[in-house]
Amino acid sequence: MTTVLSGPEKKLGIKGNFTTADQLVLDPDLIASVPEPHRFYTAMDCYIHNIEAGHGHRKTIMGDSLGTESLRLCREIFLCEDSHTPENDEKLMVASYLGGLSLTYSEVGACHAISYGLATVLGIHHGIGNCVVFNQLEEFYPEGVKEFKAMMKNNNIVLPTGVTANCTKEEIEKMIDVTLTLVFMWAHVSGPDWQKTITREKLRGLLLKM
Ligand SMILES: [Fe+2]
Repeated sequence: MTTVLSGPEKKLGIKGNFTTADQLVLDPDLIASVPEPHRFYTAMDCYIHNIEAGHGHRKTIMGDSLGTESLRLCREIFLCEDSHTPENDEKLMVASYLGGLSLTYSEVGACHAISYGLATVLGIHHGIGNCVVFNQLEEFYPEGVKEFKAMMKNNNIVLPTGVTANCTKEEIEKMIDVTLTLVFMWAHVSGPDWQKTITREKLRGLLLKM
């Protein structure tokens, strides 16, 4: 049910009952030629959706069940010897669909909230941004981050480093501002009192590690 609107200045999503799709096209041929590391980064957006949807206060049985099946497919694809097979492309399409549904019945979390800050200030691609952020979120998703690192290793992926190294103080503060506007995500992560633990200082510390 999430619709993305892209314009010359902004890219924003609408999530609501009136934006549910009538039909979906899940054609694995359309992703067959996507080069690495972009294929991996974009696929990890799906993996991260499942982890975030399954951990938090807005978790539901429906979302968790869909996410569990999507995670099973992600593991089959990215922890096997060769992820680049037509069968794995087919699995990836289904995993992405189920992963999208898992967050529809729940919410995304800390990784997406911080990643939107990176995207807004640096224009960093959603998939890459999520991977850079998720790599630093052991305290929120210890098992997920461990498995994500195993998937990176298995697929010879080396993440960009020093993404925020050349940012000014103002840019870092702007990233934090954006991140803190995503109140639904933080309430999902840490509950109604999320502001007590998700401080500017904590977010600054995480951003400077990326
Ligand atoms: Fe995402």
